[in-house]
Amino acid sequence: MLIADVFTTIRSRSSIRSFEQRPVDRPTLLAILEDAHWAPSASNQQPWHFIVVTGKPLLSLCDALQQARIQKQHAYDPSRGNTIPPVFVERTKKLFRELRPFLSTISDGQRSFIESGSFRFYGAPVVIFIALHRALPSSKLLDIGMAAQNIMLSAHARGIGTCAIALTLLYKDVIHAHLELPSELDVVLSLALGYPDTTNPINTFRSSREDITTMITWCGFDSADL
Ligand SMILES: Cc1cc2nc3c(=O)[nH]c(=O)nc-3n(C[C@H](O)[C@H](O)[C@H](O)COP(=O)(O)O)c2cc1C
Repeated sequence: MLIADVFTTIRSRSSIRSFEQRPVDRPTLLAILEDAHWAPSASNQQPWHFIVVTGKPLLSLCDALQQARIQKQHAYDPSRGNTIPPVFVERTKKLFRELRPFLSTISDGQRSFIESGSFRFYGAPVVIFIALHRALPSSKLLDIGMAAQNIMLSAHARGIGTCAIALTLLYKDVIHAHLELPSELDVVLSLALGYPDTTNPINTFRSSREDITTMITWCGFDSADL
């Protein structure tokens, strides 16, 4: 097992969008979820619930999502009806521009690869859904994000790839019905997980980041500190 240092793990993780079919064993999944469970949470309420799906139930869920997509056609709109500031929409466009050369070899339309790939969890052998109790406030999503990040870093340190997938939440009702989830649970994120297919060029893609200095406001520092 690879145990990498935290800085290397943070900087070398990237979203994996093609997986080997090799299963991930249950003790390893449990160890990853234990790492998730050590995430901080407000008042230590640990508001997460993990639903881990593999095998036939996962395949039939993918079929159900595909059917729902054909019938309902909820469109993915990163601008949310032009309600969010253009700077954020532009970052999504930049991501697709950066992806273009990687996708041209495997797909005719880049967006279709991301959309259709997301709906089948990029063929991952395992999907972890993270759910929150419906009675909890939306501020608890911060706690979920921390647990999700722990999953991604813990998996990556073990040589296992992940991709957070929110597109599937367009059909949350299908996920809930298919997995027969108790009505008090609300699925808020899915994570595709498995050993990365190192032969697929899509997994060599590295997304960029904006200049961090444009996103920091320093207060009380001497300019000589720079
Ligand atoms: C909350 C969340 C939802 C995401 N949803 C999707 C998705 O539906 N499909 C997908 O391909 N990637 C999805 N991603 C992955 C992002 O596109 C990716 O994290 C971003 O482009 C940065 O790339 P990196 O993860 O390789 O650093 C999601 C990431 C997060 C954090």
